[in-house]
Amino acid sequence: MPSLAIVGLQWGDEGKGKIIDFLSEKASLIARYQGGPNAGHTVRVKNKRMVFHQVPSGILHPHTIGVIGQGCVIDPAILKKEIESVEEMVGSISERLFVSPECHLIMPYHKIIDELRENVSSQSIGTTKRGVGPAYEDKYARVGLRVADLLSEETFRDKLKRVLAQKNLLLMEIYKAEPLKEREISEEYLRYQQLFKPLVRDVSLMIEQTLREGKRVIFEGAQGTLLDITYGTYPYVTSSAPTVGGICTGLGVGPKRIDKVLGVAKAYTTRVGYGPFPTEGSETISSILRERGGEFGATTGRARRCGWFDAPAVRYSIRINGVDLLAITKLDVLDDFEEIKLAIGYKETDEFIPYLASKLSPNYITLKGWKRSTKGIKRLEDLPKEARRYLEKIEEEVHTPINLISLGEERDSTILLEDFF
Ligand code: GDP
Ligand code: IMO
Ligand code: MG
Repeated sequence: MPSLAIVGLQWGDEGKGKIIDFLSEKASLIARYQGGPNAGHTVRVKNKRMVFHQVPSGILHPHTIGVIGQGCVIDPAILKKEIESVEEMVGSISERLFVSPECHLIMPYHKIIDELRENVSSQSIGTTKRGVGPAYEDKYARVGLRVADLLSEETFRDKLKRVLAQKNLLLMEIYKAEPLKEREISEEYLRYQQLFKPLVRDVSLMIEQTLREGKRVIFEGAQGTLLDITYGTYPYVTSSAPTVGGICTGLGVGPKRIDKVLGVAKAYTTRVGYGPFPTEGSETISSILRERGGEFGATTGRARRCGWFDAPAVRYSIRINGVDLLAITKLDVLDDFEEIKLAIGYKETDEFIPYLASKLSPNYITLKGWKRSTKGIKRLEDLPKEARRYLEKIEEEVHTPINLISLGEERDSTILLEDFF
């Protein structure tokens, strides 16, 4: 199977990074198609932990190439640091990481505006304050600066001058904040020319050539379907399309080039930031799941809100993405529960409806827990029968087969049921 899309089916942090790293053993190229440093994808190999924000999560394998597609926004300072951390772990990745010149840059005013807006409670979404939303706003307002602009000093200075005049007006008049200095921004950003020069490539062409050579490509989604700008719980969403449609627009890849779609879902549900969450648990359940699952944001360290698995919400995400197969992660987090609840519908409707999400009250079924450690289990048959029953019930409710089961952070704490890639 030459290409595989890997997308999150809940509100992000499903464990995409872990699954992408696991499957990248067989891939030649891993491509991020949307989002920016709002993402935090954790990979753990032999006790070493790496949190990816912008660099594709498959890069730790020595044979892989990572590309950042034109649908992404980039914070150069975070990218530089991230490359240094990756290189500390696996050695040089020069000639293994490439960036599209059409990626938009996250500028200092984007981060300030994100922060200032979040401080106004009526406008607050609970963003990661990384400037991602304001950078996408400028892209669509056609005033964004791109990596390509940075490669020419004259173009960069000229475009910055024009846009900064507007941004400073906004900062001073609306937010009563200090204006920014053009020279300081130029000096800081033009230093990143050296960072980007060797990284810039035609990413769409690279993917096409890789697929033509019969090699495998993974399309890496960030965030999750329920945070999609269109299909998520708007306005409590991110500013890009984590759903499969984002692959075509974010990488310059035609839809027929996407051979299979793997959806990643946690064995329960979490959400960071504000917004509706029908199966959110009581304070007690939420904090037990948070503690057992280590549910603290990989990017911001914020405590994640936790609750039971929402089958209709995942079924909705499967439909939006055309998911073929499922990876269920963090099953081990449920090891110690006497009973496990699973939402199979809502009192108001059988299907998940994003714009009504705040009004949905779930109907749960209760399954018996397994009360046994699943650590180190390598075969489905060796899982406790109650755990297998739980997974079968999820498959029944979402009408999609589970092909991967994750039982821990480490790369090898994974059960692959059928070789599909
Ligand atoms: P992503 O954004 O979808 O890549 O997910 P995050 O990295 O933000 O959050 C997932 C967290 O769960 C990370 O700390 C992972 O190391 C961890 N994790 C992933 N899979 C498993 C698993 O199967 N079991 C446990 N206990 N932890 C896992
Ligand atoms: P990964 O890729 C979980 C959430 C924020 C906020 C909303 C908008 O690690 O799964 P933004 O900064 O994007 O404007 O914030 O989206 N959010 C995430 N939640 N995982 C993520 O990424 C997220 N990226 C953004 O918490 O609610
Ligand atoms: Mg994350």
